[in-house]
Amino acid sequence: MAHHHHHHVGTSSNLSFEHTDNILIEERLFPPPEDIVKNANITAYMKSKGFDDYEAFYRWSLANRFEFWNDMAKELHWFEPWKSTFEWTDKPFFKWFTDGKFNIAYNCLDRYMGTPIEDKVAFYWEGDDGSSRAYTYKEMYVLTNRVAKVLQNQGVKKGDRVAIYMPMIPEMAASVLACARLGAPHMVVFGGFAASSLRDRMNDCDAKVLITADGGYRGGKVIELKKIADEAVAETPTIEKVFVQRHTGFEVPMAEGRDVYLDVLLNDIPEDTVVPCEPVDSEDMLYILYTSGSTGKPKGVVHVHGGYAVGCYATTKFVFDIKPSDVFWCTADIGWVTGHSYTIYGPMMNAASIVLFEGIPTYPAADRFWSIVEKYKVNIIYTAPTAIRSLMRFGEELPARHDLSSLRILGTVGEPINPEAWMWYRKNIGHNELPIMDTWWQTETGMILISPTPILPLKPGSASRPLPTIEADVVNKDGKPVGPEHGGFLIIRHPWPAQMRTIFGDPDRYKTYWETIPDVYFAGDAATMDKMGYFRIQGRVDDVIKVSGHRLGSMEIESSLVSHPAVAEAAAIGKPDEVKGEHVKVFVILRNGVEPTESLAVELKRHVRTLVGPLATPDELEFVTSLPKTRSGKIMRRVVRARELGEPVGDITTLDV
Ligand code: WT7
Repeated sequence: MAHHHHHHVGTSSNLSFEHTDNILIEERLFPPPEDIVKNANITAYMKSKGFDDYEAFYRWSLANRFEFWNDMAKELHWFEPWKSTFEWTDKPFFKWFTDGKFNIAYNCLDRYMGTPIEDKVAFYWEGDDGSSRAYTYKEMYVLTNRVAKVLQNQGVKKGDRVAIYMPMIPEMAASVLACARLGAPHMVVFGGFAASSLRDRMNDCDAKVLITADGGYRGGKVIELKKIADEAVAETPTIEKVFVQRHTGFEVPMAEGRDVYLDVLLNDIPEDTVVPCEPVDSEDMLYILYTSGSTGKPKGVVHVHGGYAVGCYATTKFVFDIKPSDVFWCTADIGWVTGHSYTIYGPMMNAASIVLFEGIPTYPAADRFWSIVEKYKVNIIYTAPTAIRSLMRFGEELPARHDLSSLRILGTVGEPINPEAWMWYRKNIGHNELPIMDTWWQTETGMILISPTPILPLKPGSASRPLPTIEADVVNKDGKPVGPEHGGFLIIRHPWPAQMRTIFGDPDRYKTYWETIPDVYFAGDAATMDKMGYFRIQGRVDDVIKVSGHRLGSMEIESSLVSHPAVAEAAAIGKPDEVKGEHVKVFVILRNGVEPTESLAVELKRHVRTLVGPLATPDELEFVTSLPKTRSGKIMRRVVRARELGEPVGDITTLDV
């Protein structure tokens, strides 16, 4: 093991990246445990196709991708079968499982009713304060039908958008599933986002109703969701009704005629109420989830019922190797795509028991994660490198205090995992032997695309190889492969079932994903691939900042700053951070006559926090008198960042685009 400096530079007229990594290179290859390989879901599928060698199987899957996805789709319930597996007549738009009639919620709940699975625990809910409740699949079915009835009584029907702004409680999962039942797209907003973010998202998709809660708990603190929701709804004319689930029990103002308590309505709905799943088209919208891009306005990523379900189902089955007896815990909040695909949909379609955790890793103490693993005998844990890095600092004694022997597979997502954190995770959580699934994907991809399955040898810090049927590569701006060990842009060559279908209300923005580099899906990441075909993801090449694995747009932060009367101009960049991966630093030019004081700096940081949300709060703020700009007046964040990090600036002449 040694520390190396790596430097990759690439520039072009509209794409450029520069990364300097100071990282531990771990050259060892970690073979998978034999018993896991023998019993893995992927092994069984490979055998059914006549393979015992992954390499040969992967090559087969590229040539037979529709057979693979047909096989996966057949394991789910369809009201009416699909006609063709894939259509790509209107590039870059495409369809999967055309004319199939389907409902993802049916596959999460209804399918199990009357079978032994109905009495199995669907969710182990663990509150921030340590209280817990278990919900069987049957109980979730009842709860979901009740919520669906409440929504239906309010006139919510297929196609209507429903905003959800809730803590991690079972009613949240039931709300998501109830929307899916009705064919009413859900639009979940992370509870850590500010009122203006909630407002903008609801307005962008014309949400008809909002489901929220009086509040939620995180680390012993109350998040006043209803108060924030009130501010947002005041400027969202399309919202007809606000449903408020009581969770904290604190008194909240209820607007006459607009706000109603969800729990009260639910109690009035008979337990045997069934709101049948709407048999929607495969390509009908399941949800919108907003994510940050390089411009100011977040993008409403659209996912559909059929292909998304098939993709989540298959990747959960093969990457996490879920067996019906497994307890699965994805630590992500439902406000993020990880929560959608791998806390609710993927594991439910695999009939797993799922841990739903309201709190944070360090409350009441820094062994909270490990005590939850012990309490529920978790078999598979899926978390973020940030969480691992932050818990590493508390030492090896904390995990050692707990019985983690139930664990079989570990996972990470959201940002590159540095080899130090990878090794720590394996040693202290994975009893020095468990495989780590470093999963690369995005809000837009809907499902994991590059990741090991539990039968692959592992390289710390590498997300390893594309999953079956997925054709990934590293290319230059013209789409030419750069070859092994060279830095370039990460691309995917062919659509996959769970891929986003469009950006809500902005199909042109969707097209840019397939047009930036001709005819391939451009992910926005830089990567290298080694001679074994293993990928190392190096991070974003656009103006997206990854704070603790969460995605923020530079522009969103800058816009919030310039809305402050003291600020003339601002630039936001991500700076390498030992725990968070990146943190936000902002450079601020003040208006004429305004004094740069320490208290103003504090105020401006708070301003960003209030307008965008706590995650976006700048760790550093510097007052400057000028910022580098293109001739057309755009701030060159890349130059700002390179200067800040003492890196070469690259080819400035090509920056004026
Ligand atoms: C971006 C997408 C998809 C779940 C959560 C994030 C980065 C994601 C990895 C990984 C290195 C990763 C990329 C990607 N990313 N997973 N395993 N290794 N980087 O979803 O918020 O849409 O962000 O997260 O930069 O483009 P997201």
